[in-house]
Amino acid sequence: MALPREFIEELHERVDIVDLISGYVGLKRRGRLYVGLCPFHSEKTPSFTVYPESRNYYCFGCGAGGDIITFVEKQENLEYIEAVRFLADRAGMTMPEDSADRAAADRRKRILDMNRLAARYFFDCLNSAEGKEARAYLRRRGLQDSTITRFGLGYAPEGWNGLRDHLRSKGYRYEEMEEAGLLSKGKNNSYYDFFRARVMFPVIDVRGQIVAFSGRTMGADSRKYVNTRDTAVFKKSRTMFGLNFAKNAGTGRVILVEGQMDVISLHQAGFTDAVATLGTAITEEHARMLSRYVNEVLISYDADEAGQKATKRAIDVLRAADMPVRVIQIEGGKDPDELIKAEGGSAFQALIDRSSGSMQYELSRAKKKYDLESAEGKVAYLKDATNILCGVSNATEREVWAGRVSEETGVEKSTILDGVSRTLRNRRYAEKKKEEARLARSVEDRYNVKSYERQNIGSVAAERRLLALLCSHPDLCGPVSRRLKGSDFVSAEAGQIFDAVCALSEAGEFTGYVSASGTLSSDLMGVFSAIVAENAGTRFSVEDCDFYVDKIIERSARPTESDLRTMTAEDIQAMIESRNNSMGDKK
Ligand code: CTP
Ligand code: MN
Repeated sequence: MALPREFIEELHERVDIVDLISGYVGLKRRGRLYVGLCPFHSEKTPSFTVYPESRNYYCFGCGAGGDIITFVEKQENLEYIEAVRFLADRAGMTMPEDSADRAAADRRKRILDMNRLAARYFFDCLNSAEGKEARAYLRRRGLQDSTITRFGLGYAPEGWNGLRDHLRSKGYRYEEMEEAGLLSKGKNNSYYDFFRARVMFPVIDVRGQIVAFSGRTMGADSRKYVNTRDTAVFKKSRTMFGLNFAKNAGTGRVILVEGQMDVISLHQAGFTDAVATLGTAITEEHARMLSRYVNEVLISYDADEAGQKATKRAIDVLRAADMPVRVIQIEGGKDPDELIKAEGGSAFQALIDRSSGSMQYELSRAKKKYDLESAEGKVAYLKDATNILCGVSNATEREVWAGRVSEETGVEKSTILDGVSRTLRNRRYAEKKKEEARLARSVEDRYNVKSYERQNIGSVAAERRLLALLCSHPDLCGPVSRRLKGSDFVSAEAGQIFDAVCALSEAGEFTGYVSASGTLSSDLMGVFSAIVAENAGTRFSVEDCDFYVDKIIERSARPTESDLRTMTAEDIQAMIESRNNSMGDKK
């Protein structure tokens, strides 16, 4: 076991689960439970439930469930041990030392150290003789030395093992360099530099750690940029280039652009609040992260069709995170970097001043598609406009925009608003249907009902009830474990949980759901949480326990069809006798 049981228990004592989760999710009290919108999938009706008594949470929409530790693992994107550390910090407790966890933490630290050394190496290469061409390239792109230093830009030389040999001389192994994404693995266990002949951009997270690199070719390489793959310290879907600076810019907003060169040019021109995702569309996670630091996003994507599509998607993602959005439009197919290079920072400021709110942006984009002079054009525009108006959750705001559309089309405002209400109703209905279907599906997934299990659904239910019962009657683990093994269970997961619970109980350490934390994987904690959640409020008796155990034994002793085909008459007789015996010695 990784951490002392008492430590984890004290952690659960000290960190109130409702308190903790309220920091991330708006929770409403409902009797003895709390409910809110699930942070792990997007939903309109709350199905995320927190159970203060059993100290777990469970989402009936997506099946996410667990205890305070799994919650922090998912929400903060941390490994188990770091999640514990996060909670311990919060509770003012000191972490006990443990070798296995220390190893994982050390590995991450070594990756961060290698990244720092690599960045230093690339920077030194840029400023050495072999970096001459790269220096000229960056200068051609208009970057000043102070900007290069500020962003720690560098150059990965052409050879195959410059960085490899450098890190080797600092005491690192090839395998761990590969784990850091700095080396590629070739044939016969050979390793070579992943980044070659590229201008290097370190990717720095909000804590100021170098978590990855992006490298740009200066020549005709068909891949313009290559980025570090996801590693133990880097997740692309939740990292933004420039956010380490932007979060301290004090403007209350960020300028969201497509590429890191745009970020750097903007920064050099005084817009230190520019950020970019790393070659991916903006995700819900990005949006959530931004909402921690700022209250407005100015999108300045490329003017081309792809850029406009991406803008629309970003508006939707950010709106879902309740983030106000404005859109900057650059004429003439330039990106922010090219605009600033050609016309200076003041030209970009002028565009910011002329930027439009996301509503106005979407409406005027729709309007451009149609000829409002014709009746068909008007109808088509009204249809688009209605859909766009549906995105405004504030009623007053919706009124104002409906008024605008009314002026443009000559159609009564009330007619437009009626259309919006009708569309919203239809959407909600469709959404509800979809959520119901998803719920039905997720129940099957959650119960892990494979066709074989479906035939044994009664036993599956008994297994789950038994596990829930043991949480409230830990003293029954001993007697039950003498009659049952996990392998008697239909559901493999429930069986694994059962074995773990019995082992803990044997060691005198099982006191209920949360005491399994640390022994069970976070997936199994999720399954266990689902089980506890679906039995919340049930008062079990000792008789129930015997009933469930009998049911499980009866099923497991039952031969399968193929068994029966190969069994002799004596086999069958023996089986029946042994079953009768086991049913008889229960008390
Ligand atoms: N990108 C990537 N992989 C590619 C191409 C692009 O990861 N093969 C990412 C990079 O983060 C890049 C961003 O997408 O910064 C935008 O790409 P693009 O518009 O093609 O590049 P620019 O930012 O204009 O880069 P540059 O000005 O250096 O040409
Ligand atoms: Mn560019």
